Amino acid sequence: MKELQFKRHRRLRSSANMRALVRETHLHVEDFIYPIFVAEGENIKNPIASMPGIYQLSLDQLKVEMDEVVELGIKSVLLFGIPLHKDAEGSGAFHNHGIVQEATRFIKKNYPEIIIIADTCLCEYTDHGHCGVIEDGEILNDPSLDLLAKTAVSQAEAGADIIAPSNMMDGFVAAIRKGLDEAGFADIPIMSYAVKYSSAFYGPFRDAAGSAPQFGDRKTYQMDPANRLEAFREAQSDVDEGADFLIVKPTLSYLDIVRDVKNEFNLPVVAYNVSGEYSMVKAAAQNGWIDEKSIVLEMLTSMKRAGSDLIITYFAKDAAKWIAK
Ligand code: PBG
Ligand code: ZN
Repeated sequence: MKELQFKRHRRLRSSANMRALVRETHLHVEDFIYPIFVAEGENIKNPIASMPGIYQLSLDQLKVEMDEVVELGIKSVLLFGIPLHKDAEGSGAFHNHGIVQEATRFIKKNYPEIIIIADTCLCEYTDHGHCGVIEDGEILNDPSLDLLAKTAVSQAEAGADIIAPSNMMDGFVAAIRKGLDEAGFADIPIMSYAVKYSSAFYGPFRDAAGSAPQFGDRKTYQMDPANRLEAFREAQSDVDEGADFLIVKPTLSYLDIVRDVKNEFNLPVVAYNVSGEYSMVKAAAQNGWIDEKSIVLEMLTSMKRAGSDLIITYFAKDAAKWIAK
């Protein structure tokens, strides 16, 4: 009788320590970037209903949050601003004493080692909620670039370590690079939202940041989720224009794109594990339908396995606790 021929893969799964020996992907607390919503005003700690555990925080509430971040070993935060006043140009974005600028100064002063990443966009500051300036219902590309460059420079002046433009206007990396260089910030890197899809997964963020477009949608500037080759073009132009990091966003439905960008370009790849991805897990966990810790660690591991070097995630604090053991 012929003997069965087969491989014994289970040899390497026989115990926890054996599995640890052959594990290919690891999560480190250094991988996580924690987004924070800083609100103008005082005594604000507004919970975001659709994002349990996430708050809009005024400056006076930032200390408790930052102490926790530092204590957990998280090295970088991504700041989004919630201004008191909005206008057509989104002038709060580039005001020297804007909320992100002030939060940056506060963090830099009290937590000098923390890497502060400033989100550079207009949508939280414009009364129409779009990421650029508008005229007759159209989002204008080139006039938006000046405002974005101004925003980046004011953020760098306040002490931001990295500029992260999320607006998806064409040429934003070139414009911001030029603005930073001319203002004496040649050493400040740009973490570009290079590949950003027009996604329903941003829904909860728009509650958190109060940045839902007041008319239309973002489909004329954010990418069509059906497209892959376009991601190469988007990333390539940002590389050519001087990006230092490439963000792919969202992540979970776009892990193929994360892998593509990792393989094709020689820059650190950042996966943005967006609000809707967070909310879905939280909701299911609150219902007792899933094991939150296992699900989150599995998801974050999949993002790294797909090729991301860093992960922007609202789970950063939880995950830092879980992987510390
Ligand atoms: C806005 C911006 C968005 C996010 C980050 N910056 C939303 C949007 O484009 O509408 C989404 C982040 C998230 O969903 O967690 N420029
Ligand atoms: Zn925007």
